[in-house]
Amino acid sequence: MEPKAVLVTGAGSGIGSGIAEVLAARGWRVAVNDVDPVLAADTAAELGGPERAVALSGDIGTEPEAIVARAAALLGGRLDALVNNAGIHRRAPLADVAADDLDAVYRVNLRAVVLASQAALRQFRSSGMSGAIVNVSSIAALTPQMGVGLYTATKAGVSAFTAQAAVEWGPFGVRVNAVAPGMVRTAMAEAVYADAELHERRRAMVPLGRIGHPHDIGTAVAFLLSDDASYVTGQTIVVDGGFTNVLIDLLPHPGAPHHDATTTLAHR
Ligand SMILES: NC(=O)c1ccc[n+]([C@@H]2O[C@H](COP(=O)([O-])OP(=O)(O)OC[C@H]3O[C@@H](n4cnc5c(N)ncnc54)[C@H](O)[C@@H]3O)[C@@H](O)[C@H]2O)c1
Repeated sequence: MEPKAVLVTGAGSGIGSGIAEVLAARGWRVAVNDVDPVLAADTAAELGGPERAVALSGDIGTEPEAIVARAAALLGGRLDALVNNAGIHRRAPLADVAADDLDAVYRVNLRAVVLASQAALRQFRSSGMSGAIVNVSSIAALTPQMGVGLYTATKAGVSAFTAQAAVEWGPFGVRVNAVAPGMVRTAMAEAVYADAELHERRRAMVPLGRIGHPHDIGTAVAFLLSDDASYVTGQTIVVDGGFTNVLIDLLPHPGAPHHDATTTLAHR
């Protein structure tokens, strides 16, 4: 049987390459999109070459529809699924977010997700196939994060878009879900994890006792794209090792010597 075909955006490194690796290992043929052509080519080659993966360089923020069309062409006229993974940060206090940064984050994190999904829907419908879309949101969609400008709002938008698209596109046989990663070690947050003490203090706050790996997100995406999830749509699945459920435990309480979060958790 011909392998199913998927486009993963921002798949040249980090979480996107983890998603691409898991999907390729499970028999998908993957279009590896990245704005960095070298990263796209290297990842596609590592996945096993043209039988398993094709490189597709391009900026999803500026040409989302063209990238989806090129993916379908490269994958032999077939597209069964889309993973909207590419996302960027522009750190700034909310009071000072510059209009250019606001536009840049909005274009990649939300506008491209909507336009690429519309283009994928057109591909699914023109080939008469059902399809599945998974968007990469964030735990920042559920709880604010200081100093990240528009990032939190765009990720909440991704989860809201996911739910709305599921309602509107369900009748076409298209499922739309999201994953909300917690802390995952990638280039996006490497400055934190390169510091051994910071890494340890963050690790200690995760009930499952470790920082996430891109493969942890890849396996959740693979589930949502699979037939095992054929009755799941409109959901944002949190993949964070349990981290977002410890927030109330971070409150100072008797028995915890001071307000340091790591110490508080250690005294639970
Ligand atoms: N790392 C985390 O802890 C974390 C947590 C929650 C959510 N996320 C989300 O996961 C996704 C991936 O994050 P990551 O940590 O792997 O990021 P990363 O910065 O490590 O990697 C992102 C990849 O996307 C590519 N990219 C960036 N802009 C692009 C564009 N316009 N078009 C095509 N490719 C582009 C980059 O070149 C890079 O290869 C993002 O949506 C991010 O918001 C990450």
